[in-house]
Amino acid sequence: MDDTDGIAIVRLGPDDASDGLVLSTETHWNQNEADWRFFLTTGIVFGVRDAGGQLVATAALLPYSSGNAWISMVLVTENWRRRGLATKLVDTCLNVATRQGLTCWLDATPAGAGVYGPLGFTPTLQLRRLRLAHPEPAKAGADASPATGDLVQLLARDLGAMGFDRGPLLAEFAGRPGSRLLSNGDAVALVRDGRTARHIGPLFANRADRALALVEVIVRSETGPLLIDAVHVQEAFLTGLTASGWTIERPFQRMRFGRATAKPTEQPFAVAGPEFG
Ligand SMILES: CC(C)(COP(=O)(O)OP(=O)(O)OC[C@H]1O[C@@H](n2cnc3c(N)ncnc32)[C@H](O)[C@@H]1OP(=O)(O)O)[C@@H](O)C(=O)NCCC(=O)NCCS
Repeated sequence: MDDTDGIAIVRLGPDDASDGLVLSTETHWNQNEADWRFFLTTGIVFGVRDAGGQLVATAALLPYSSGNAWISMVLVTENWRRRGLATKLVDTCLNVATRQGLTCWLDATPAGAGVYGPLGFTPTLQLRRLRLAHPEPAKAGADASPATGDLVQLLARDLGAMGFDRGPLLAEFAGRPGSRLLSNGDAVALVRDGRTARHIGPLFANRADRALALVEVIVRSETGPLLIDAVHVQEAFLTGLTASGWTIERPFQRMRFGRATAKPTEQPFAVAGPEFG
């Protein structure tokens, strides 16, 4: 018998945010405590604790709207891996989702894709995570501040890109201390804090050059490391980022479990993050 066969899967609550953060930090992920609190208050998070009570594995189901949900924070501490914990936790999320009639989406790391494929997830679009370690601030006297963006415009474009509404998520992001909602002509993007780097996304624009121009003004108005999760088919955007010093860190594969829902009407340049879609 597998030594995890009888293991208890428990529902986690808001008080588990700091334990969750320990797990995501072990894997060098960028989520901060505010992200964990969002999952634990808005979503359904399952976890496994070892005999000493330490949290050793998690998976989160984040219901959105129109019958869609995101699965993420699938984490297993190093010495508990390859014993079926991730499979059990994702299966638990899928059971809840199926009972509620939800189509599930996720953005998988290469290791995660090995778990989700056998469970029945199928690949959709690809993403690339890029990092800019040292943004170059604007020279003294130069106007470095992009215009403040409009939340209503951001929500409308996100609805077009996802095919379903994520207003509560994006409004919560925009309201966090340190968050910036920025625009440059038709381009609009959100910038928020992360544990090790600030994150740009989602980012919408009518053309790649406009998306790159917005990233450029954001970079000049930021001082620390930045991350962006770019949609792979936006080739000119990706090429422009790498030409201006961004480096590709890792791929993510978007996957879906269940029937396709509404048809997106636009492709974003960058997403809100693999944990949120
Ligand atoms: C990915 C991760 C969650 C897997 O957890 P786990 O409990 O070891 O996964 P399971 O034991 O349920 O694995 C089930 C199957 O998935 C596949 N798999 C698991 N880890 C894999 C890896 N690192 N590379 C390739 N395939 C992998 C295997 O087919 C495995 O079956 P096997 O052990 O019989 O070969 C864990 O390695 C982890 O936390 N990694 C860091 C964070 C991460 O990438 N999370 C996924 C985010 S999308």
